[in-house]
Amino acid sequence: MQISDEIFKILQGDSRDILKDIKSNSVQCIITSPPYWGLRDYHRENQIGLEPLLDEYLSQLEIVFNELYRILKPNGVLFLVIGDGYTSGNRKYRAIDKKNPSRLLAVRPDTPPGLKNKELIGIPWKLAFLLQKNGWYLRNDIIWHKPNAMPESVKDRPYRCHEYIFMFSKLEKYFFDLSKLKDANHKLLRSVWAINTSSKSAIHSATFPLELVKYCIYSSTKPKDIVLDPFCGIGTVGIACVETNRGFLGIDINDLYINEAIQNIKEII
Ligand SMILES: C[S@@+](CC[C@H](N)C(=O)[O-])C[C@H]1O[C@@H](n2cnc3c(N)ncnc32)[C@H](O)[C@@H]1O
Repeated sequence: MQISDEIFKILQGDSRDILKDIKSNSVQCIITSPPYWGLRDYHRENQIGLEPLLDEYLSQLEIVFNELYRILKPNGVLFLVIGDGYTSGNRKYRAIDKKNPSRLLAVRPDTPPGLKNKELIGIPWKLAFLLQKNGWYLRNDIIWHKPNAMPESVKDRPYRCHEYIFMFSKLEKYFFDLSKLKDANHKLLRSVWAINTSSKSAIHSATFPLELVKYCIYSSTKPKDIVLDPFCGIGTVGIACVETNRGFLGIDINDLYINEAIQNIKEII
């Protein structure tokens, strides 16, 4: 698939394999949300996210993010959207979520060593520090506030309604145009972005909003630049790239999501 003279590609497969064949220093921006730990079953062999141990999960993501570091241009930026989780208290069973059946997992991961039952794990920060150790510059933690988040079934802590968007660069200096980081009322965004979740897909329940992706694209790329999403799902980043005249390279392990991504993008080209 092509737009203008620039690249527009969507590939099906395991990111850990496909990324190895992508040229070094070739994309301007990476916007991605990897599978969260122990939360969803994407029903594909070699999927990331169902590792029994947290450290195994983090080391699989480390493989991906080391490749991404090589592929990002020296003045490029990475936006990483990542959610947290609680220790299971060694309960093995996760109750059926009727609205979101992919959240049913037969086995919940054990409580990681050093943590107690019912604790917030801190996965986003553990991953952020790992990337920092591997050379990435952690430039900001942006809070994605979800005003329409559903209440949780807990009574002993506030309901969570946010996720982290970490912004990383490869070097101290990089391309970033703060003046383009504006909301619909032309107000400059700060480090808390209030954006409703929206589920537009019948088959994928963990997509991120187009608006969030566009904030990242406008501030950190120019028209025709290439944006990469190594966990592209139904192609939200690709859709945003078409709408903003950027090139796109997307990868996902699930062929059903890839088909929907191609369909979604064809509809707007
Ligand atoms: C949180 S979702 C991303 C959704 C995407 N941001 C969107 O808006 O559609 C994570 C994705 O990672 C994919 N995935 C899991 N393991 C993978 C792997 N090893 N290689 C590539 N994709 C993988 C899943 O199929 C899933 O679509």
